[in-house]
Amino acid sequence: MSPDRKVRKAVIPAAGKGTRLLPLTRTVPKEMLPLGRKPVLHHIVDELLEAGICQVLFVISDDKTCIPRYFDDGSDRFQSVIQPRQRGLADATLYGEDFAGGDPVAVALGDSVITSGESKHVTRRLIEAYESLDAGCVIAVEEVPVADASRYGIVKPKGDAGDVFEIDDLIEKPPAGNLPSNLAIAGRYVVDPVIYDMIRGLEPGALGELQLTDAIRMLLRGGHRVWCVRLRKSEKRTDIGTFASYFEALIQACCRDEELGERMRTVAAEEIAGAAICER
Ligand code: G1P
Repeated sequence: MSPDRKVRKAVIPAAGKGTRLLPLTRTVPKEMLPLGRKPVLHHIVDELLEAGICQVLFVISDDKTCIPRYFDDGSDRFQSVIQPRQRGLADATLYGEDFAGGDPVAVALGDSVITSGESKHVTRRLIEAYESLDAGCVIAVEEVPVADASRYGIVKPKGDAGDVFEIDDLIEKPPAGNLPSNLAIAGRYVVDPVIYDMIRGLEPGALGELQLTDAIRMLLRGGHRVWCVRLRKSEKRTDIGTFASYFEALIQACCRDEELGERMRTVAAEEIAGAAICER
């Protein structure tokens, strides 16, 4: 395991096609869609910088060069690499190996936004957990309805699952009848560089893709310890990959705007009242 456990670098996989948001994503990557005053990715980058991250690598496809252009501040704080073929999250993570340079990295999915009312955002707590525990990987998890669990990576806690807990297994998109828990991987990880060897040994898994969940499973099988940090009640993850979830995140961002939030909440209330009259 890496001797320096300080987590100062983050990788954001953002090469996915965004087909479920067409035609919106025909020329704008889903990660650059507006959420209030800033694009989705800007919220994620702010979250990472607040958590102590100093350097960010975007893993993009060749038609998403607007992402590095947006973040170009003339420094090497923001970098990008092109993943030519989308072969899964583990493959995207492997594109960050040179950037990691032997250091641990946070991995933050570019289409998952996590809002938090906590003094320390879950990503900050994730990094602190990694830095203080004996861990090959630390994962943020959230409770999901049992009926939805097969859409996620699901963890199997070792004993009681408190705020921070150890796991002894995890499975990507488990079949409905075989759920180890209802605690789902929530799009944020910290991984030790030992993960890259695991990824190189991976076979395609769920959806025929190279799954990060499977690489973490190999870490466990290799004797490394894996911990989870649970999202708290005030924390909500939204995957902006569908219109339903994107609209939800958009409405939330507009209604919480510091300057215009009150007005936007009035607009929303008027819409609801108008819809109620129409329904009568
Ligand atoms: C990915 C991960 C999965 C995780 C989910 C939400 O799945 O593979 O383990 O639960 O993100 O963070 P995807 O939504 O890309 O199918």
